[in-house]
Amino acid sequence: GLGISKLLSETGYVTLDPGFVNTASCASAVTYIDGDAGILRYRGYPIEELAEKSSFLEVSYLLINGELPTPEQLSAFSEQIQGETLLHERFRSFFAGFPSSAHPMAVSSSAVNALATYHPDTLDPFDPAQVERATALLMAKLPTIAAYAYKTAQGQPLLYPDSSLGYVENFMRMTFGLPTGAYEVDPEVVKILDMLFILHADHEQNCSTSTVRMVGSSNANLYSSVSAGINALWGPLHGGANQAVLEMLEKIHADGGDVASFVNKVKNKEDGVKLMGFGHRVYRNYDPRAAVVKKATRKVLDTLGVSDPLLDLAMQLEEVALADDYFVQRKLYPNVDFYTGVIYKALGFPVNAFTVLFAIGRLPGWIAQWREMINDPATKIGRPRQVYVGSPERHYPA
Ligand code: ACO
Repeated sequence: GLGISKLLSETGYVTLDPGFVNTASCASAVTYIDGDAGILRYRGYPIEELAEKSSFLEVSYLLINGELPTPEQLSAFSEQIQGETLLHERFRSFFAGFPSSAHPMAVSSSAVNALATYHPDTLDPFDPAQVERATALLMAKLPTIAAYAYKTAQGQPLLYPDSSLGYVENFMRMTFGLPTGAYEVDPEVVKILDMLFILHADHEQNCSTSTVRMVGSSNANLYSSVSAGINALWGPLHGGANQAVLEMLEKIHADGGDVASFVNKVKNKEDGVKLMGFGHRVYRNYDPRAAVVKKATRKVLDTLGVSDPLLDLAMQLEEVALADDYFVQRKLYPNVDFYTGVIYKALGFPVNAFTVLFAIGRLPGWIAQWREMINDPATKIGRPRQVYVGSPERHYPA
């Protein structure tokens, strides 16, 4: 691999591979995907087992450290994170500087980058103690940042975190609680959001993770690298697809719910319309995460006693698409984002907050991959080559 690329560049050859469809950028021991078989494993553990039996913090520890924690290691890790959820008092005013229409992804990535200003003694990528602390600070503070982005948009007061609560419960309370009353969240809801975070926790060299590694390859600090990852995730072809799916379902619903005519539009590529939440670069078989989410969606709506016509619409779309040659030939199946939006909506999150939930889930994966890169002696600064197709030399008019 690396030997061949060195040989090629020394002989003046470069490979042209737009979108890195067939080019590996690194060797990694974090996540395994077999796209043809629909298999996803974190550090060797099948995603289905982790989703059913583990917790988000345990999975985060696994991704970051390579092994499942002992009970003592897990409680030390959780305490370290829960003890850091508070933002600096002055940092709270940062949120007031944005208009209430601000997209929470823009607020979150800015706030994550700004964390570096409050923790200048945690910026050295080559000091393991600093990296350990930056890891805990990011894991602890991103949910607080996400909740404050929401609160600011709602014009509601920011709540202090409650470190006696679990990771997800604390986030839900900071998001939906009010200082004027007690907030209680159904443990079933907490469990489901925790499971969704597990399903999003890593996905090897996707667009945002590759961005985190690329930025970090210049030895930029962890906060800047993760902040860049949040921006990459925002795009509708990546994490932003969860927002795009719900907007698509709402539009089909508002137009009378004609699934067949929407699918025809997609097949005819009218105005570039895509079936959002379908397709994946690596999976050419059902996305194993989507299978788990689909099951959970029904359960959430039942638990909350909500009925949502958008779920029926999504299921109809899936049924029509999976029986259609266009999608079959191109091996297009629902991806993780196809059903998550229906759950997030049922939990009360506004559509533009969906991708922030993805970011909270993906954070341990970004951190694990960044740390793997920093510790890998084979790492070099990310610097792709190009094939120049512009003008030959010409001269500025005299
Ligand atoms: N709807 C309709 N057609 C599609 C879709 C879709 N969602 N996805 C791919 N296709 C078609 C393409 O138009 C292309 O057709 P063609 O051969 O006639 O030109 C063919 O399938 C192959 O697609 P590519 O664009 O080459 O696939 P690529 O691997 O580059 O893109 C991607 C993958 C970006 C995920 C794409 O499938 C897509 O845009 N999906 C919709 C957005 C989405 O759901 N993104 C979330 C991905 S998962 C995640 O990030 C969490």
